[in-house]
Amino acid sequence: MQSAIEKLKIFEKNIEEKTQENRTSAWETRKTIGKLRKDIGKNKKHISDTRKKVNKLPYHKVEQWIINNQIGSLESYQDSLSHGQLSSKQWLVEKLPKGKDLYLEVISDGTPTILGYTQHLPLVNSEGNSDPYPESSLYIEIIGGWFGCPLIDLLHSKLEIKKIDFYEKDKLCKTILAQYLNQFEFPFEISVFGDFFERKEIRRRDLIINTSGEHMEDIIKMKRYFKGNPVVAIQSNDYFGLDEHINCVHNVEELIEKNQIKNVVYKGELDFPKYTRYMTIGHWYV
Ligand SMILES: C[S@@+](CC[C@H](N)C(=O)[O-])C[C@H]1O[C@@H](n2cnc3c(N)ncnc32)[C@H](O)[C@@H]1O
Repeated sequence: MQSAIEKLKIFEKNIEEKTQENRTSAWETRKTIGKLRKDIGKNKKHISDTRKKVNKLPYHKVEQWIINNQIGSLESYQDSLSHGQLSSKQWLVEKLPKGKDLYLEVISDGTPTILGYTQHLPLVNSEGNSDPYPESSLYIEIIGGWFGCPLIDLLHSKLEIKKIDFYEKDKLCKTILAQYLNQFEFPFEISVFGDFFERKEIRRRDLIINTSGEHMEDIIKMKRYFKGNPVVAIQSNDYFGLDEHINCVHNVEELIEKNQIKNVVYKGELDFPKYTRYMTIGHWYV
């Protein structure tokens, strides 16, 4: 049988050992906490630096302006930059033909010509060389352009632009477009118009873009106001359930047919959870 003093000594030894273990573990935990604190500090600085950069971006500044001046448009503005809207615009810009593929046209005397509104550049230069194919700056029309973003920004990253005629019939959208243009200061001219179907001036354009086909009647109705053979890029969708969607289509063939695209250079579809978006790019004349 153990004496009471022996029991006491064993308990004291246990206590001493456990205390030592606790000390070691506390010291290690303190070390880990110190490291975590340092990491948190670093991450906090990274977050704050990134936030400062975001605050300087034009898209954020426009959003701030909307919050301060036109709060009713905030949801729509945020929707215009949502994943679905952004990927639809990226899709369009990615599929747009570029350079000679965009401008190439054979004029009446059989000479292949690169078309641009201001200049018609012959493919064969004075020395008889057929290369390079120079690009002229484009005259573009954007129909039902909403706030202009992010499409103008994306187009600017791919094409040489001379001028954009922008059509938007909603005044509140145009106020926000003005903010967007102020922030970006694009190096080309942008003229803003109201209803696309009300402009009866005859003009020559290189590219006509309508990403809002489901919101309006078919733009083929305006074909007679365009000289030459502009590239036409149209998107619409099969989201029939919304009142403002007055001209949806069931498939891309219907979009091509309704807009009488004769020379189709691209046709395709993009699936979203609630609908499919259709797009065709081509010419009104063969
Ligand atoms: C909701 S937005 C854009 C939706 C489309 N999914 C997009 O991303 O481009 C459609 C815009 O077309 C505009 N719109 C409709 N008919 C128009 C017309 N005839 N002329 C100019 N803008 C028009 C509307 O005011 C609206 O701002």
